Amino acid sequence: MSHTNRTYLDNAATSFPKPRAVHDAMLRFATEVGASPGRGAYAQARDAGHMLYECRRRLCTLFNGENPDHVIFTLNATDALNMAIHGLIGGGGHLITTWMDHNSVLRPFNALTPRPGVEQSRVECDPATCLVDPDAIRKAIRPTTKIIAVTHGSNVTGTLQPIRQIGAIAREHDIPLLVDASQTLGHVPIDVQADHIDLLAFPGHKGLLGPLGTGGLYIRPGVEKHMHPYRQGGTGSASESDTQPDFMPDRFEPGSHNAVGVAGLTAAVGWVVERGVEELWRHERALCAQMIESLTSRDELPGLRLYGPQGVGDRCGVFSIRVDGFDRPQDLSDLLEREYGILTRSGLHCAPLAHQTIGTDRVGGTTRLSLGPFLTARDIQYVTDALAQVCCVRAG
Ligand SMILES: Cc1ncc(COP(=O)(O)O)c(C=O)c1O
Repeated sequence: MSHTNRTYLDNAATSFPKPRAVHDAMLRFATEVGASPGRGAYAQARDAGHMLYECRRRLCTLFNGENPDHVIFTLNATDALNMAIHGLIGGGGHLITTWMDHNSVLRPFNALTPRPGVEQSRVECDPATCLVDPDAIRKAIRPTTKIIAVTHGSNVTGTLQPIRQIGAIAREHDIPLLVDASQTLGHVPIDVQADHIDLLAFPGHKGLLGPLGTGGLYIRPGVEKHMHPYRQGGTGSASESDTQPDFMPDRFEPGSHNAVGVAGLTAAVGWVVERGVEELWRHERALCAQMIESLTSRDELPGLRLYGPQGVGDRCGVFSIRVDGFDRPQDLSDLLEREYGILTRSGLHCAPLAHQTIGTDRVGGTTRLSLGPFLTARDIQYVTDALAQVCCVRAG
């Protein structure tokens, strides 16, 4: 029998629930506006265009972007990463990434590497904490390096990489830094200017609490000159020209927008900015501390192993565990769902090298528990009590 209440711990895949205002804004857009932004001079089309701009503006407020027109809407974080990587590397060069990166970086890199003149280096990280040493990035730099791509928060272990230090190194060498903020934007404060981030790829549907099918790429003013548009097509502007406009954001945004999605995202980012990302981060860190204290208490949870940072210092709210007696992590997920209504995700989480780093690639990966802003200390207590019961029963 399935459990009637659910405790959602799969926020790393997509956040749930979303603020009520997100659904209201989507419904309002669909029923009252309904026009395509930039594709008409009538009031509704203009309203839709203003809404898009407002979303870009709110995003810039959130991460201290310099120019809202440099926020490009994408389908998700994967699409943003592809836009950045393919856009910058068209002419060849050397690429740097890390062992903690997601397939959304690794696969575009691997797709490019067979091309003549394209090479890549993957920087290893500490197997216990999964931290990358910024000096190792410095050492990997070559005269031909065209991009450094780093995942800010690991979607496997929650490790937070020192992006500000990596950013300073990248800037010193004048190499664009691409940060995959899939697990951090909306959870962890990010300041693209102070962190020296040239390209920030993010989903709208995870920490920002917007709908699925939304995401974005922020391009630092000036960097776009070194990128070619990854797609071409109609923009509702400069239609007499047979090539892509060179102004932002149209240069990277051909085709009709997911305006219903962006309406939801606008409300979502408004919600995050109003709460304050520092406040949301404080809440998440308190839940992380509670989770870590329970998960690392060996007597209460015999046979449970937590991977990655064992303290709150270098991590966000993504936890990978294995429990003795569960050879397949999916069996633990199934039990947690069936008996306790706790929803988790098991496997390699699209980050096979991260699992190689922690040594779980050949045993089916881990069970992942990931936090969101609507979880409370009571929820964490419920989850850790459930894990304690499971561990004690398994330990016999
Ligand atoms: C670190 C990381 N990068 C990229 C992605 C891809 O995100 P999206 O599903 O929005 O394309 C994810 C999603 O799981 C992720 O965790």
